[in-house]
Parts: sequence; structure tokens; C-alpha cells
Amino acid sequence: MFSADEIRKDFPVLERKIDGRPLIYLDNAATSQMPLQVMEALESQYRFHNANVHRGIHTLSNESTKALEDARRTAAAFIGALPEEIVFTSGTTDSVNMLAAAFREKMTGKDNVVVTVMEHHSNFVPWQMLCRHTGAEFRVCPLTDTGETDLKALKNLVDKNTRVVAAAQVGNVLGTINPVQEIAEISHAAGAFCAVDGAQGVRHGVTDVKKMNCDFYSFSGHKMLGPAGIGVLYGRKEIFDTFTPQRYGGGMVDTVTAAGTTFLESPAGWEAGTPNYPGAIGLAAAMDYLTGLGREEIAAREEMLCRMLAEGLSAAEGVTILGKPAKRTGAVSFVMEGIHPYDAAALLDKLGIAVRSGTHCAQPLLASLGLEHTLRVSPAFYNTEEEIERFFKGLEKIRSILQ
Ligand SMILES: Cc1ncc(COP(=O)(O)O)c(C=O)c1O
Repeated sequence: MFSADEIRKDFPVLERKIDGRPLIYLDNAATSQMPLQVMEALESQYRFHNANVHRGIHTLSNESTKALEDARRTAAAFIGALPEEIVFTSGTTDSVNMLAAAFREKMTGKDNVVVTVMEHHSNFVPWQMLCRHTGAEFRVCPLTDTGETDLKALKNLVDKNTRVVAAAQVGNVLGTINPVQEIAEISHAAGAFCAVDGAQGVRHGVTDVKKMNCDFYSFSGHKMLGPAGIGVLYGRKEIFDTFTPQRYGGGMVDTVTAAGTTFLESPAGWEAGTPNYPGAIGLAAAMDYLTGLGREEIAAREEMLCRMLAEGLSAAEGVTILGKPAKRTGAVSFVMEGIHPYDAAALLDKLGIAVRSGTHCAQPLLASLGLEHTLRVSPAFYNTEEEIERFFKGLEKIRSILQ
């Protein structure tokens, strides 16, 4: 097992002070921090190799193209996919929007789409809009009292007219680890596709899309130590090429004439225009970093930190934790009696503690819990137990000030 104290040296931002106090960064579900190794990969690309990809025959273009395609191989290996199944996008939101748009010509008003109520808006609204455009029915699966996807309800909602079931691998508010393999099974049994939002799941442990048996999988670089503005849409090869790309331009065409255009197969056919190749190179460096540390170890440490948070918050006066999923990672959300989450987050910031307050882009979930805002604390493997203790002390302090 790696030492958190040692690896913190790779993350210069963690040395920052806020108002003279050491930063305690507990907003990793929103964006994680970047290690020096990723910054160096980005710098090296810009400093020594920068040129457009797949378009030139000169040395720099060839080097950049090779680095991009190496990054695709790294991303594929990271999630157990084939390189040709990896489309680089600008992030999870972009991936889901592209996918939902591609479903339009596959659907009619008789069809339906099923999502869960825990979905982030990015895995909710694109599917809702798909239904609005096609006249299909939009179905939302509820959660159990513990904050887990109600699989019995899901089985009732998914039927022979369901075209796609979209679900998060890990919920961004409650931290629930969804049984995605089972959700894929339920989808496939009805003849539907299963699209998994891996934004919160991909950093925690080992993801194998073939084992998960999903058809599509999306994630973002900035939530897994990589740069912002890069992400991945994985699509099972034999399915991907039955969909028509939804973005058009350079790099994705085979022949173009006034009479019409033919497209390349995936992934090139889905990457119109100059891709974010430096971002992809940075993302691959982040994946190498995570792999080097040990993904099982990272998962174990993050689950331990979440357990520590959940136990400490349960014992804290005037605090209610949201959800009690049997398997939780990445995030714990809570409310404090008589204290608005925004006030709490603002005061915690004064103590150097960064947490998230608000709706967490999950209004349907919050509405189902009868809430408008919550506080969310989301640790990463580089957080220390001492930081969690200091967070508890900070919480006690702001409670005594605000109540
Ligand atoms: C579960 C989940 N899905 C999707 C997203 C959207 O990710 P991005 O903003 O990187 O596109 C997030 C971001 O918080 C998320 O937590």
C-alpha cells in the first residue's frame, strides 16, 4: 500500500494555504487534482512535439499522432476495451450528448428510455431531450430507502420497448456504487442497450467494460487526475458502427462530394475536427499514474476514507447523512440542522476546507429526498486521515458559530 504522505509530494496544489491555513481539498468528485507527472506529459507535448494529428507527414505531426494513438491504447487497456472502441470527447457530458443524439434515428414514439433518479443532470437531460425529440417515453427508476437503485422497480420499468437504460456506475451525491453488471443484464434481457456513466466510477478501482457488459461507457479526464476538456466515450465495436456519427467535419470523412459524404468507422468517424490530443496525452499519463499506484489499493483507501467520513458524520450532532448504501465510495452528502449548506461551505472555506454545497447537478435526486441543497464531501486517495479529523473539528467549529 502506498503512503498518502509520500504521494502528496506529486500534487503541488495540496501545499496551498487558504487564508493562512493548510488546504484540505475534499471536493474531488467535482474535480480531482493533477500530479506533476501529468503536468510534465502536457508540457513535454507542447514543448517538443506539438502539431496537428492525422494530417501531416512531417516529424512533429507523426509524433503527435503516435502519442494520441498510444493514449487511445492506454485508455482502452485502462477500461478493458479495444483501442478502436475509444472515442475521445471533451468529457462525460459531451459523451452522453453525442450518444443520446445518435439514438434519435433509432427510436420512435413507441419506445422508451430508462434512467435512475440518482443520475447527474449530464446523464439525465440528454436522454430526456432524446425522448422529447422522438416522442419516446422517459422513465425514471426510484431508489430504495438506503439510496440504492431499486432493481425490482427497474425490472418493471424496462420492457420490450426500452431502447436504452442509462445509469451511473457511482452516484455523485450519495456515493452509491451501482450494480452495473446487473443493470446491464436487465437491459439486455429486454433487448435494450445499457449506457453507463463512469464519471465517478472510473477513478475508483478497476473498471472492465467487458466484465460490466455495458454497451457504452463515458468518463471525464478531470475527475481522474487528468486535464479538463478531455473524456472518453466507449462503445462496443459491433454496436458503435451501427450508429451514425452526429458531428461532421475534418478527420471523420471517407469521401466528400457535392452529391454526398461517406464516413470513417469509429473511432475516427466520431472525432470530427482536431481532437484534444494534448488532453488525451495528459489523460493517458493520469491513467499510467493510477495504474502505477495500484487501482485496487486506491479503491480500498477511498472506501476506507468514505467509511471514516460516514461514521464520523453519523456521530456528529445535528448532522444527517443522505443514503446508507451498502457499497459507497467517492462521496458522502449530508445536511446540518438549522444551517444552510452554502453558509457551512463558505465558513469551512475560511478554515481552508474545500467541500461542495448545492444541488450537485442532481435536482431530481434531491427532490426525491425532499431537499434543495446539501453539503458533499468527497475524498481522494491523497487525502489523509488527519485531514478527515480536521474536517470533523472544522464542522464542529462552524456549528458552534452558526447555530
Ligand atoms: C456522475 C456524473 N456524471 C456526469 C458528470 C459530468 O461530468 P463533466 O462535467 O466532466 O462532463 C459528473 C460531474 O460531476 C458526474 O459526477
